[in-house]
Amino acid sequence: MRFFAVAALSALFHFAVVAEPVEDFIPPRSVPKGFVTTRGSNFEVNGKPFYFVGANSYWLPLLTTQEDVENTFEEMQGAGIKVLRTWGFNAINGSELADAQKSGLTYYQIWNSTEWVLNDGPQGLHRLDNVVSTAGKYGIKVILAFTNNWAPSSMSTGLEALAKRMTFSILIRESYLHTAKRYVKTIVNRYKASPNIFAWELMNEARCLGDLPGGPSCVPGSGTLHTWYKQQADFVRSLDPHHLITTGGEGHFFWKKPVGFWFNGTFVSDYNFNGQAGEDFDADLSLKNIDFGTYHIYPQFWYPQLDTPGSNFTLKSWGLGWIKDHANAARRAGKPVILEEFGVSGLTNKTGVYPAWVDLALGTNHGLLHSGIMPWQFGMTGLKESGGNRLIKYADALIDGASPNDGFAIYKNQSAVWNVFTRAAQVQAAKSR
Ligand SMILES: *[C@@H]1O[C@H](CO)[C@@H](O)[C@H](O)[C@H]1NC(C)=O
Ligand SMILES: *[C@@H]1O[C@H](CO)[C@@H](O)[C@H](O)[C@H]1NC(C)=O
Ligand SMILES: *[C@@H]1O[C@H](CO)[C@@H](O)[C@H](O)[C@H]1NC(C)=O
Ligand SMILES: *[C@@H]1O[C@H](CO)[C@@H](O)[C@H](O)[C@H]1NC(C)=O
Ligand SMILES: *[C@@H]1O[C@H](CO)[C@@H](O)[C@H](O)[C@H]1NC(C)=O
Ligand SMILES: *[C@@H]1O[C@H](CO)[C@@H](O)[C@H](O)[C@H]1NC(C)=O
Repeated sequence: MRFFAVAALSALFHFAVVAEPVEDFIPPRSVPKGFVTTRGSNFEVNGKPFYFVGANSYWLPLLTTQEDVENTFEEMQGAGIKVLRTWGFNAINGSELADAQKSGLTYYQIWNSTEWVLNDGPQGLHRLDNVVSTAGKYGIKVILAFTNNWAPSSMSTGLEALAKRMTFSILIRESYLHTAKRYVKTIVNRYKASPNIFAWELMNEARCLGDLPGGPSCVPGSGTLHTWYKQQADFVRSLDPHHLITTGGEGHFFWKKPVGFWFNGTFVSDYNFNGQAGEDFDADLSLKNIDFGTYHIYPQFWYPQLDTPGSNFTLKSWGLGWIKDHANAARRAGKPVILEEFGVSGLTNKTGVYPAWVDLALGTNHGLLHSGIMPWQFGMTGLKESGGNRLIKYADALIDGASPNDGFAIYKNQSAVWNVFTRAAQVQAAKSR
């Protein structure tokens, strides 16, 4: 019954998927010197191909000293990293202001009970300005996300998640859109002339469901998220004709054919393929102003059944399949794709799994080539501010000079894992000449 409903609805929504590869069909947009653009399934800078290994670091704009910011970029540069992905948002509640001022917490917006007020000061957007400009000094380009689907582990209700709930449940409510768009416009206008920006990202991991519900209208087949991506991407394009735009999504599909796995003798329909999350990777990537695709991989958190007796799939094999599926979808769309976040917990798991995933994504065989890969997340040691120990936002802290570790951070001293990515960066650099 469920399969029938999904298949019937998805037929309506698969309007723009092309059957044959259309590689190189979309001509490069003419952009100012140093800006990233696309040619078919690849990126280009100044007419040369651009393949990269990137770093995820949401905490970099939360640092308070230039020395720590510079040292972090220097470590990234040393590892061959060409792209940084970070958050272009950091909002606090008015009740948090006093503590924020005392602790030096970075915040760009504050909710004063009636509206969002911008913090265009040294503890606010100046820190983001500094990250964007310092990135250029180290030859690194920045992917900036406008908002999040997930609440920060804060003492109050996450404001970013609240914003998301309002977006999806009352998609067209002008008062909210006005506020959200005003912030997006502030950020885009601030950096739109900068070649240091790689791309704008509409939302980190947009889903119908997050820490807060997405509202009754955000269900499979409603196209709510697709409509939102379209509205937002068109709006950003109206402000900035040159920078690339992407979704920031996890890459969920909405496929007609049921995809699943066998567990304990039962067929389990797979959330990542059946549209329940709200995304439709194929349709979303076909949008005119979505220039490239993003997807994430966290099988251990998505599948409690993984690697257990009674299940027919493993951590490594599930990831390999997900990589192939997205490479194929991107080829159908004739646009680039990046593996924008991925993580497995445990050092042994990392060294056991990452080389296979990275090799497949970077391989030129079978047209599976990815333009970029970005492990979650970059780890830095030797940070000096506040003696290397400081709460940087809510529960996230620098400890003994080390950047926050959610179990996925990769520090330079973990050389077996670190070297997987420094080697990958060399492979990407060789393809970029
Ligand atoms: C919130 O900020 C707006 C704009 O700065 C201001 O007009 C309004 O009075 C503020 N409200 C409160 C409760 O501080
Ligand atoms: C802001 O903080 C106040 C006081 O802690 C709390 O009652 C309120 O729910 C918070 N608002 C949001 C939107 O998080
Ligand atoms: C799998 O099936 C067995 C036998 O029916 C049952 O004991 C077990 O709890 C099931 N496992 C899960 C995770 O559902
Ligand atoms: C598990 O079984 C399903 C159903 O037969 C199949 O579609 C899927 O590809 C299998 N997964 C793996 C990793 O073998
Ligand atoms: C390694 O992965 C397995 C399979 O997902 C998991 O059960 C185990 O907890 C992981 N190890 C660590 C240290 O996280
Ligand atoms: C590497 O550095 C991190 C962060 O300081 C630390 O937690 C870890 O114990 C160090 N050593 C190894 C082998 O991971």
